[in-house]
Amino acid sequence: MQKKIAVLPGDGIGTEVTRGAVEILKAVADRYGHDFQFEYGLIGGTAIDQTGNPLPEDTISLCKDSDAVLLGAVGGPKWDSNPSHLRPEKGLLGIRKQLNLYANLRPISFYASLSEASPLRKEIIQDADFMIVRELTGGLYFGKPSGRTMESGQETVVDTLLYHRYEIKRIIELAFSLAEQRRGKVTSVDKANVLESSKLWREVAEEVSKDYPNVALEHMLVDNAAMQLIRNPRQFDVVVTENMFGDILSDEASVLTGSLGMLPSASISSKGPNLYEPIHGSAPDIAGQNKANPIAAILSAASMLRNSFGLEQEAQAVEAAVEAVLEAGFRTADLSGSGTNTLSTEQMAEEIKISMLGHEAIT
Ligand code: NAD
Ligand code: IPM
Ligand code: MN
Repeated sequence: MQKKIAVLPGDGIGTEVTRGAVEILKAVADRYGHDFQFEYGLIGGTAIDQTGNPLPEDTISLCKDSDAVLLGAVGGPKWDSNPSHLRPEKGLLGIRKQLNLYANLRPISFYASLSEASPLRKEIIQDADFMIVRELTGGLYFGKPSGRTMESGQETVVDTLLYHRYEIKRIIELAFSLAEQRRGKVTSVDKANVLESSKLWREVAEEVSKDYPNVALEHMLVDNAAMQLIRNPRQFDVVVTENMFGDILSDEASVLTGSLGMLPSASISSKGPNLYEPIHGSAPDIAGQNKANPIAAILSAASMLRNSFGLEQEAQAVEAAVEAVLEAGFRTADLSGSGTNTLSTEQMAEEIKISMLGHEAIT
């Protein structure tokens, strides 16, 4: 199979973890006889430094001409005091909008070998397995007006939480169709006791649920959901929510797996190309030290193999290799504990590659 993959490493550990994920994709191509072409593009702070623009036109056309996009992370203290339009994060929001990536799928699963890495007790996190379906191109991140003005001599700021009905409907429909293939439960998270946007969200969820008789719908207020996620995560199957709630709840959910460095994501549109990225950021506190966990990026690459290329066997081989390496006691610093072997970013990617190739060679 021949595929063109746009690679946008971005900033900080984005470049380090993306290198690991590309290594794994190359190994998959070699092992299974595929031809993956990698083309690199600039995004975020690195793009600002080199072109004055967090999302250069070349990057947009590269992504649109590719079969899938692999992204690292953007941002860092160097650009934190830039004006809004010159922030690295604008590049990320821009590419999501340009590619119409309205849904961000963030799966959370329990790794038995990592049960000691989570601050939560094993009985709580054991067998947790759910999917956060985060709306990605609407809500507070994109609503207008947004900005700072002077009103009656006072600095005044506004952000707008705006949704059109069709935007709510398509993300909730996606959540239901995923739940149909999973355990048949959708938890729609909102703040319908306060927000107009959430009231419409709830109405639409009720309407959509009529088309899915085999899926149970429950509504949950976001503050309660934040608590339930760590009190009893096993109650969740598919969680669907608006952009910012999904952002916050998914970082929280990463604690179940032991590290933010474990959670991959797939950002999808109705016609592709889709974009795959870890949920974590550029981690300025550990950037440049070759100690970031590349697993979220590598699992994002596995998701690309499955969801963009239909390569289920290859995706499973990568996922199985990640599991085997963790079971063997290999850890990056974020996960390390007693009796484990602490590896650098590069060494972790290499171990996963060796495990994948070794396993495949004997089957
Ligand atoms: P962050 O996700 O970068 O880091 C939070 C904490 O988790 C840090 O202690 C970090 O060291 C740790 N961490 C994150 N990923 C890790 C990994 N793979 N391995 C080991 N440890 C890991 O969040 P932050 O510090 O709040 O934000 C830093 C910058 O990243 C900001 O500029 C922010 O805007 C940006 N950001 C970008 C994305 C993205 O590009 N998708 C996502 C989140 C944050
Ligand atoms: C993420 C990040 C981004 C978001 C930021 C960097 C704009 O936190 O991908 O989760 O909030 O969507
Ligand atoms: Mn986030």
